[in-house]
Amino acid sequence: MKVNLISDTVTRPTPGMLDAMMNAAVGDDVFKNDPSVIALEEKVAEYFDMEASLFFPSGTMTNQTAIKVHTQPGEQLICDKYAHVYNYEGGGVSFNSGVSCKLVDGHRGMMTAEQVEKAINPPDFYHSPLTTLVCIENTTNKGGGACWDFEELKAIRKVCDDHGLKYHLDGARLWNALVARNENRKEYVELFYSIRVL
Ligand SMILES: Cc1ncc(COP(=O)(O)O)c(C=O)c1O
Repeated sequence: MKVNLISDTVTRPTPGMLDAMMNAAVGDDVFKNDPSVIALEEKVAEYFDMEASLFFPSGTMTNQTAIKVHTQPGEQLICDKYAHVYNYEGGGVSFNSGVSCKLVDGHRGMMTAEQVEKAINPPDFYHSPLTTLVCIENTTNKGGGACWDFEELKAIRKVCDDHGLKYHLDGARLWNALVARNENRKEYVELFYSIRVL
């Protein structure tokens, strides 16, 4: 039997899933009265022990919003050369947030803390964009589903703290990474200012 793993969109909803959709309680999320969205946001926030969570219809929208929240136009973020936020998302970081990306030549989409530190522009050198954010991805998309070593993620957090940088996790397939590495989800997400999961 062949299984097509190119995307979760190649699978089809089962009758049980369709039934759940047809019978879901719905409302207007703008007025914060969609019970299903509220329940989902509460569940995810509690699951990761985070202050709050927000439902977005796509991962791209979530990343774009997080980057916008953490940066000001003209600033620079650091990411691996394979990063989804750089290679895809329609170049949205430059359009939506007005930031540029400093690309790191990592391994399968993963950088070392040392590489991240070297990629930071000197903040007093006003000719270069101010570095304010580090984005990492787990599992990596273009890196072929590689997952990070937790110690390296902690070391990058230390670099962020030392240099006053924010830290965003693009957690596409984060659940797979947590299972593969047998990590504690709460300790894991504690490292980041924001995470996005699907
Ligand atoms: C690492 C990563 N970030 C972002 C996305 C974008 O998610 P979406 O297709 O929901 O916009 C994907 C999708 O595959 C991804 O793998």
